[in-house]
Amino acid sequence: MRPSLASLLLGVALLIFSASAERRIGAQALNTANGDEPRRGSRKQLLEWEPVSTADGGPGDTFVPQGGEGSWESGGDTGIIMIHACVMSKGDVVGWSARNMGLQEYGSAVYNATTRSYKQLLDECGVHDCKNSFCGAQTTTAKSEVLIFGGHADHINWFRSYDHGTGGLWSTQMTSGRWYPGVATLPDGKVIVVGGVADSGKAGYHVEDDRSVDNPSYEVYDPIARKFTGDNWEMSEQLAAAFPIHTYPHVLLTPDGGLAVSAGKLMVKYARTGPTTFAKTYDYPSRPGAPWSYPQTGVGALLPMLPPYDQLFFLAAGGTSQDRAKVGTPASDAAEIIELTEGPEASWTSVGPMPYPRVMGDALVLCDGTIGIFGGAQEGLAGWSKVARNVDYGDGTSWYCEEKCSKAEVEVFEPTIFDPATGQWSEKGTLATMLRPRLYHSVAVLLPDCTVMMAGSDVTNDKTAEIFSPPYLNKGPQPVIVEAPTVVTAGTEVTVPYMSPDPVQRAILIRNAAVTHSMAFDARALWLEVVSNTGCELSVAIPGNRNVLPPGMYMLVILSDKDVPSPAQIVSIP
Ligand SMILES: *[C@@H]1O[C@H](CO)[C@@H](O)[C@H](O)[C@H]1NC(C)=O
Repeated sequence: MRPSLASLLLGVALLIFSASAERRIGAQALNTANGDEPRRGSRKQLLEWEPVSTADGGPGDTFVPQGGEGSWESGGDTGIIMIHACVMSKGDVVGWSARNMGLQEYGSAVYNATTRSYKQLLDECGVHDCKNSFCGAQTTTAKSEVLIFGGHADHINWFRSYDHGTGGLWSTQMTSGRWYPGVATLPDGKVIVVGGVADSGKAGYHVEDDRSVDNPSYEVYDPIARKFTGDNWEMSEQLAAAFPIHTYPHVLLTPDGGLAVSAGKLMVKYARTGPTTFAKTYDYPSRPGAPWSYPQTGVGALLPMLPPYDQLFFLAAGGTSQDRAKVGTPASDAAEIIELTEGPEASWTSVGPMPYPRVMGDALVLCDGTIGIFGGAQEGLAGWSKVARNVDYGDGTSWYCEEKCSKAEVEVFEPTIFDPATGQWSEKGTLATMLRPRLYHSVAVLLPDCTVMMAGSDVTNDKTAEIFSPPYLNKGPQPVIVEAPTVVTAGTEVTVPYMSPDPVQRAILIRNAAVTHSMAFDARALWLEVVSNTGCELSVAIPGNRNVLPPGMYMLVILSDKDVPSPAQIVSIP
C-alpha cells in the first residue's frame, strides 16, 4: 500500500527535526523539504501523473525549456572512438574502445573537458590490460577505480580493475564468458554481473536457435577480497525466457536491497537472500511493445529519488516499434514509467509519445533532476551492417564506410528532455541540434560543470567529442559551491558554503557516469533533505540507507530558486 501524502510529509518533518535538533531551521529550508505547495520535483506531482494516450499518435504533453535551446560545441579529439566512458573523481573522462580504434592496439584515453584535450591512458594495453574489454560492462568505485566485466572474443571471460589514482591495473578470469552483461553495485560495495552471452556477437535473432551461446547466470565480485563467487542461476528462468533479445539487462538496486532486472521485455524482482545470493520474488508486468534490449535498444533511467527514498520509479523509453526489427524499421516513440517499489501490482504508465521516436539513444539525469535523452536514430537497430554507405557529418566533412556501417538511419540530432515532476517532454524544435551523428558505439555523460559530453560512434568512425550546454545554464546566475568535502560518509550531514546571487533551495546527488551501448550502469540520483540553509551555508542529509545510495562517486549539485544548478563537487561515498 502506498503511504498517504500526509504521513510522508510528517516523516519528512520528523527527519528534519531529528537531524537538526541543535539548529534553527530556516523557513526556506522547510518549504524546500516538505513540498507544501506543488512544485517541480515534489512527490505530490509524481503521484499525480496521468497516463497519456498514444493511440491517436498525437503529440505527448510538452514544454518549452526555459533558458532557450542550449548549445552544442565541438569538444575536440578524444584520441579513440569512445565506446565506453566513465567520469572519474576529478571530473575527467576515462574512455576506451575496441582494438585498433585509435591510440595503439588497445585504445584507452583520458579526456579533459576543460581543456578539450586527451592523453593516452597507460601503454598500448590501456585499461584492457591487454584483454580486449570492448562490449563488456563497467562501473566505478568510491576510490576512483574502474571495474570492467567481460569483453570480446578470446577475452570475453576477463575482468579488469583499473585504479585511476595510481594507474594500477589488475585482471583475473571470471567463471564464464560475458558479452553485453548487466552490472550493478550492491549496498556493501560488491558488484553483481548479470547475463550476457558466452560468445561475442551471439545476441539477437540470428542466434535464436542456438541456446548454447547464452549465459543466463550471474556472478558477484568482491572488490576487497578480489574474488568472484562462481556462477549462480537464480535469474536464469527470466534471462533464458528473454533470449535472444536480453543482452545488457538493466540491473536496478531497489530500496529494500533487492534487484529489479529488466531483460527483453521481462522484468523480475529479486530479493537478496545472502551476501552473494538472490531469489526471485515476483514478476513485474512486461514492458508494453517490442523487447527493448540490444539490438532493439531503448533507454532506461531511474528517476531521481525523493526523501524518504522509499519510492523508486524507472523510465523506459524508445527502442524499436516492432519486434524482429531490421534496417528501416521505425523506432518507437513510446515511453513508460513503472514504480519498482509498488510490488507485484506495479504497472507501466505511458508518459509518451516522445517528440521523436528513438532507438539507441542515451539517457542521463541532468543537474536539475530532469532526464536528457541524446543521440540515436529514428529507424533501424543497433549493430553493424555490411552495407557500405557515405556518412555526412553535417560540418562539411564526410566519410565513406565500407564495413561495420550503421544499421540505424535517420539520426536524431535534437535531444529531448523529460521532466519527471510534470511528465512532460521538451517540445520538438526547442533544443539545439548535435553537430554529428552519434549512433552505435557512442556515449553520453554528465560532466561536473553540468554540461553533457557526447563522443564515439564507431559506425561513423568518430574520434571526436561534442559538448551540450543545457538551457538551465542560461536561466540565471549559477550558484557556486565554495567548498565541499571530497569524501562523505553515508548517514551524515554535510554543510556546503556557497555563493549565489539568487536564493539556493535544493541539492541533488547524481552518480558519476559509467556508460556504453545506451546503458548507464548504476546510474541514480537523489534529491537531498535540506537540514538548514542560512548565511550561505546549506546543510544536507546524506542518506544512510545504502540500498538507495550504494558506494561510489557522486556529483553534488546545489540549485538556485530558478533551478539553475551549480557546478558539481564530486564526492566519494565509500
Ligand atoms: C583539466 O584541465 C584543467 C585545466 O588545465 C586542470 O585544471 C584540471 O586539473 C584538469 N583535470 C584533470 C582531472 O586533470
